[in-house]
Amino acid sequence: MSRILIVYGTTDGHTRKIAEALGETFRQEECRADVIDASETGPHVRPADYDGVVVAASVHLGHYQRAVERWVRSHGEALNRRPSAFVSVCLAILEKRREARQEVQKIMRPSSIPTGAASARLRERSRITSRPAATPL
Ligand SMILES: Cc1cc2nc3c(=O)[nH]c(=O)nc-3n(C[C@H](O)[C@H](O)[C@H](O)COP(=O)(O)O)c2cc1C
Repeated sequence: MSRILIVYGTTDGHTRKIAEALGETFRQEECRADVIDASETGPHVRPADYDGVVVAASVHLGHYQRAVERWVRSHGEALNRRPSAFVSVCLAILEKRREARQEVQKIMRPSSIPTGAASARLRERSRITSRPAATPL
């Protein structure tokens, strides 16, 4: 049975619902899925103990939750060694205005999401996952 870790950050609860729905979907696929709020992760929550990791966070005033950034930064190397995906939850992705599109691009720069290769991979994944996340899962 595959073990999946879902670490999420939320301010108003929407990303928690998305993370829990993802967890339920993985369980229906016969995986063991642990869904954990980034602000409640301790040293025992380690990517090395899982076969795959999903990180989800929402944008508030141009930033993701700090607890998510901290967790990804401290586990970047381990995240790069296994399948991982980043789910970016925001409203600007739905906008057609050029300024809004630019804002989304800015949010996905390495300075917004943690450092190094893990950042590049997560950024790329967020491009893929942002649109589906804006529609029903
Ligand atoms: C105070 C506030 C600021 C927000 N700032 C942004 C933003 O800068 N860019 C964006 O795309 N969405 C922004 N949003 C939309 C949120 O990302 C969106 O509502 C999301 O679903 C919130 O998820 P959460 O409940 O998990 O925190 C903002 C929402 C609020 C309430």
